Amino acid sequence: MELKQIYTPIQKDLDKVKDTIKSISLIDYKWLSEQLSYIVSETGKGIRPALTLISGKLFHYDLNYLMPMAVSVELMHTATLVHDDAIDKALTRRGQETINSRWGDEIAILMGDFLFAKAGEFVADTQTPRVIKLFSQTLGIISSGEIGQFRGAYNINQDRESYFQRIYRKTGSLFSLSTQSGAILGKAPEAAVTIMREYADNLGIAFQIVDDILDFTSTEEALGKPVGSDLRQGTLTLPAIFIIERNPRDNPVKRFFASRDKRDAEEAIDTVRNSGVIKECYKIAGEYCEKACRNLKVLPQNDSRQALYDLAKFVISQGK
Ligand code: IPE
Ligand code: IPE
Ligand code: MG
Ligand code: MG
Repeated sequence: MELKQIYTPIQKDLDKVKDTIKSISLIDYKWLSEQLSYIVSETGKGIRPALTLISGKLFHYDLNYLMPMAVSVELMHTATLVHDDAIDKALTRRGQETINSRWGDEIAILMGDFLFAKAGEFVADTQTPRVIKLFSQTLGIISSGEIGQFRGAYNINQDRESYFQRIYRKTGSLFSLSTQSGAILGKAPEAAVTIMREYADNLGIAFQIVDDILDFTSTEEALGKPVGSDLRQGTLTLPAIFIIERNPRDNPVKRFFASRDKRDAEEAIDTVRNSGVIKECYKIAGEYCEKACRNLKVLPQNDSRQALYDLAKFVISQGK
């Protein structure tokens, strides 16, 4: 199923989120305004604000609070991407040149900061200390995930468990903020907030596993961002961890991390692509999606709940 179809219950409001984000570039400061309008011109899939709106719509749909929250999570996401691309030295994002490539790392750092600040302004408009605190905690968790990834580059001694923890931090946590804040602002009962948290923790992990698969199997044209770069940059993701697990003493990933030689990188990437591990990784992503949906049945039965199921299916259908 296409995202557009899944988003039906909230599409109109998701369009408003995107319009609001575009409007942040309308400021009386030419330099900043130009760069901001460049950043917000390509909007991405909108999964996180969609999660916030859907989570609110399951309960009490008050857009006075849900709208700024949805804008806030998408701005936070965009800020993390701007910083992530500077760290990864990526040249493309959402089908266009990255900020770091166009204006340099310094501007990328500052523009990322500006977007974080804006995200903070919008979350404050919810006037709800609980979600404001959750917002700040999430930003801390994402940063710790990105730091862990950076510090762990070329370290062969990372097992599945440390990988799952890292991707929960860098991706699951923001999915979790998105649904929890939606549920809290929608005045959901506490047990339902917990279910929405568990859904997003697991969906976010599945989403990152699939993103990590696509880095090996997809194309820049399809994704609008570089591929094949995780392993080349020393980032150990699930497909490569499988290769190590199969032959811990000697394997192409270990050889590449030791030599950092380009030819060894290509051999390691080819091995991942041709060894059946991709299928195993989809299976694990599928298990996380199942776990995500485990308790949804006790939530109110409506088209928003169906959207949560469909989104889980969408996540594991990517690239298949
Ligand atoms: C990219 O997220 C970063 C990851 C967590 C893998 P998305 O794939 O949601 O990016 P956009 O917003 O659609 O561009
Ligand atoms: C997600 O990881 C980045 C953040 C959570 C900021 P990736 O590095 O895999 O994301 P892409 O592939 O660049 O979108
Ligand atoms: Mg990246
Ligand atoms: Mg990636």
